[in-house]
Amino acid sequence: MITRQQFMTMTVIFFLVVSGIAATRMGGDGPKNLKILPKDISEQRLDSIMSSYNKALGVDCAFCHAPKDKQKPEELDYVSDANHMKDEARKMMRLTIQLNKDYFYYDTLQRPEYLRVVSCYTCHRGDPFPADLK
Ligand code: HEC
Ligand code: HEC
Repeated sequence: MITRQQFMTMTVIFFLVVSGIAATRMGGDGPKNLKILPKDISEQRLDSIMSSYNKALGVDCAFCHAPKDKQKPEELDYVSDANHMKDEARKMMRLTIQLNKDYFYYDTLQRPEYLRVVSCYTCHRGDPFPADLK
């Protein structure tokens, strides 16, 4: 026989587990390591910004994102900062935002980080190292 107290304990544990799972699920959504882009950015917006970097620099995602596991280099860990190019790209993002803010008209309501008067492509033109003379 289960006592009333044992029943209550089991009920409490059940709800703790269920709410724990729900919290983990919710925490799993959305980007986790954004230092420049807005944390509430939509998935579509983030995807389109990231693919614009691929095009502007003529690279793929692995140029800036480290693999999850060295054995499987095709699976990338987007949250990780292990690839130093990601922080180099952050510097470039700050530079681009600053250029737009300081030298071009922008509407604060439109969020300056989205505005592309000067974009990565303006300088890079499909080249990750545009300073190299060809
Ligand atoms: C030129 C470098 C660069 C390239 C190429 C690039 N990314 Fe990123 N990515 C970044 C940077 C920098 C951040 C962090 C931005 C910030 O801190 O606001 C980021 C963040 C992300 C995040 C958010 C991770 C998190 O949870 O914090 C995802 C997802 C992502 N990138 C996916 C991609 C995909 C998919 C591609 C290829 C289509 C790609 N990236 C190509 C530089 C790059
Ligand atoms: C005003 C021009 C300009 C803009 C705008 C610009 N870049 Fe760059 N970027 C450069 C130059 C020049 C270099 C080469 C520096 C070198 O060779 O050391 C470079 C280098 C880089 C590198 C390689 C870092 C390294 O160690 O040299 C990355 C990654 C990069 N840029 C990403 C971006 C991204 C992403 C954007 C847009 C958010 C962007 N850049 C916008 C001029 C620019």
